[in-house]
Amino acid sequence: MQKTVYKNLKGLKGSVTIPSDKSISHRAVIFSSLAKGTSTIKNFSKGADPLSSLDVVKSLGVDAEFNDENTLIINSSGRLEKPDKILDCGNSGTTMRMMAGILAGQNFNSVLTGDASLSKRPMKRIIEPLSLMGANINSEEGHAPLEIEGSGLLGIDYTSKLASAQVKSCLLLAGLFADGLTRFEEPYLSRNHTEIMLKHMGADIEISGLKVSIKRSQLKPLKIDVCGDISSAAFFIAAALIVPKSDIILKNVGLNPTRTGIIDAVKLMGADIEVIDSYVHSGEIAGDIRVKYSKLKGCVIEKALIPRLIDELPVIAVIATQAEGETIVKNAEDLRNKESDRIKSIVCELSKVGADIKETPDGFKISGKTKLNGGTQVECYHDHRLAMSLYVAGLVCENPVSINGFEWADISFPEFERLFAQLTQN
Ligand code: S3P
Repeated sequence: MQKTVYKNLKGLKGSVTIPSDKSISHRAVIFSSLAKGTSTIKNFSKGADPLSSLDVVKSLGVDAEFNDENTLIINSSGRLEKPDKILDCGNSGTTMRMMAGILAGQNFNSVLTGDASLSKRPMKRIIEPLSLMGANINSEEGHAPLEIEGSGLLGIDYTSKLASAQVKSCLLLAGLFADGLTRFEEPYLSRNHTEIMLKHMGADIEISGLKVSIKRSQLKPLKIDVCGDISSAAFFIAAALIVPKSDIILKNVGLNPTRTGIIDAVKLMGADIEVIDSYVHSGEIAGDIRVKYSKLKGCVIEKALIPRLIDELPVIAVIATQAEGETIVKNAEDLRNKESDRIKSIVCELSKVGADIKETPDGFKISGKTKLNGGTQVECYHDHRLAMSLYVAGLVCENPVSINGFEWADISFPEFERLFAQLTQN
């Protein structure tokens, strides 16, 4: 689907409630499938990725249906059953990496597959540590499909070079089925929804700074109301910051400190953004954010900030084109392993609309403030975050921008256009 975006002259106004967090939704449905009894998940994400996790657990014998109030009700015996088909994770790296950890420790064999993009993404990062635990996984040179031979696992002490919540979650989930203690350490803190939810569900888990350890545990059912996704809110934050006259309120946004790097980064750039209310929501912090059009300046984004805003870097690149001076993103090489090579793809597409942006091995450099010409077609590389980032860029381009493949936005944020319209109707 091609989507044409026009320059926005009136600004974004009003308020919207941000839809469900993708990362928390994945974990809620997957962890509930391991708990004996009935779990209830309110506000489960309607993105294609969490629906892939839902499909996979159903194929493993778990009963999961939406009730009349749109709450997902999960009934599980606490044990997964051997699937009678290949498990399709679609476009979702989170589904594949978390399920691999669980399936490695079952007493049956299974196969995880995914779409063309997921089949290109690196799986050695989980295959290697799982193999050290005793797992047997065959792959196409570190890529899906993953053929997993269920076996007995033994806990390991693992220091990861990557700050990756998917790798961390995979090992912690394997640790739930392993003998002994499984310890994981990462260089910077990645999102910690897994630790919060597993603790909440009664797992024998201990967290200490960058280290986390877990022992074999039986989980208790979950009751959760999933907060909004800050990674979705990021597109509206960006649009409000760069489109003159904007002043918006985003409601029920997840504010877990391991995810709020975007707020810290735009504050460094001089943004007028504030949390106007916050509360704890099923063990996770959430709240309302007010964002106004702002005069921005460039900044450096690196080190521990990177995992706290990893998914927001494409849209931060868009913001940086409208900031005075240079913005430098460093230590973000893992962006090349996302749904697309997000360093290459954002540099290439923003250059097409007139941005002054240069690729570096581990990030990019942007000089601003640039008047973007637009008036061209851009590609989203089957990448939902590219699609929505380019939409935001289109709002400040002098001439219309046509985005090819905009339907990929549905992977995480099918409500994007409807909510955007609410903010621009006034
Ligand atoms: C996710 C973790 C991040 C992120 C992805 C979702 C998760 O990946 O990019 O969109 O839910 O755990 P990494 O942990 O591999 O960086």
